[in-house]
Amino acid sequence: MTNIAVLVSGGGTNLQALIDAQKNGNIKNGEIKLVIASNKNAFALTRASQNSIETAVLSLKECGSRSEFDDKLIALLVEHNIGLIVLAGFLTILSKNVIEKYENKIINIHPSLIPSFCGAGFYGLKVHEKAIEKGVKITGATVHFVNEIADDGAIILQKAVEVLNDDTPEILQKRVMEQAEWNILPRAVSLFCQNKIKVIDGKTKIEQ
Ligand code: GRF
Repeated sequence: MTNIAVLVSGGGTNLQALIDAQKNGNIKNGEIKLVIASNKNAFALTRASQNSIETAVLSLKECGSRSEFDDKLIALLVEHNIGLIVLAGFLTILSKNVIEKYENKIINIHPSLIPSFCGAGFYGLKVHEKAIEKGVKITGATVHFVNEIADDGAIILQKAVEVLNDDTPEILQKRVMEQAEWNILPRAVSLFCQNKIKVIDGKTKIEQ
């Protein structure tokens, strides 16, 4: 059984998708044990508490230094014997220190088809603004492992979503969440917990 920590900053709809999948038996061989939020007002914390999942708040700003933040984060992860870290809208970039310690054990959901509309500065609504600005007809979401470069780690799952004529960034964001993110994130977590994802030369091979 893999103990899962979900790191969040905002509304937590992806966390909710994971909780729902867990309730429906769709997270095989894994359990969400801890939700860590970067701010105490994140609604994701309420979702976790409503489902009796332990929570913690860890803010880089409120820590004296990056190393204090890292030490506290690692202590929480070790205490809960965490084997998979899911970044579900977590807005604090993790340091090399944490990433190396949990190599190929940290996954992120990004709201575009990587390598399009990703990397530094592409977060939240900006991703969808740029997709609409470019006029792409297809966008989507990607679940990938986290390495030291933003949105660069090995891709695990992707799902395409259509961009429609009158889309605003908000409308497109919602469609990408509903049709892609909430679907591929729980699937990727379940595959990980069943040990079905291998990373070879920076690419994943998924056991079907
Ligand atoms: C999602 O769009 C996710 O792709 C991005 O941050 C957003 C988080 O939304 N990384 P929520 O907090 O899960 O609702």
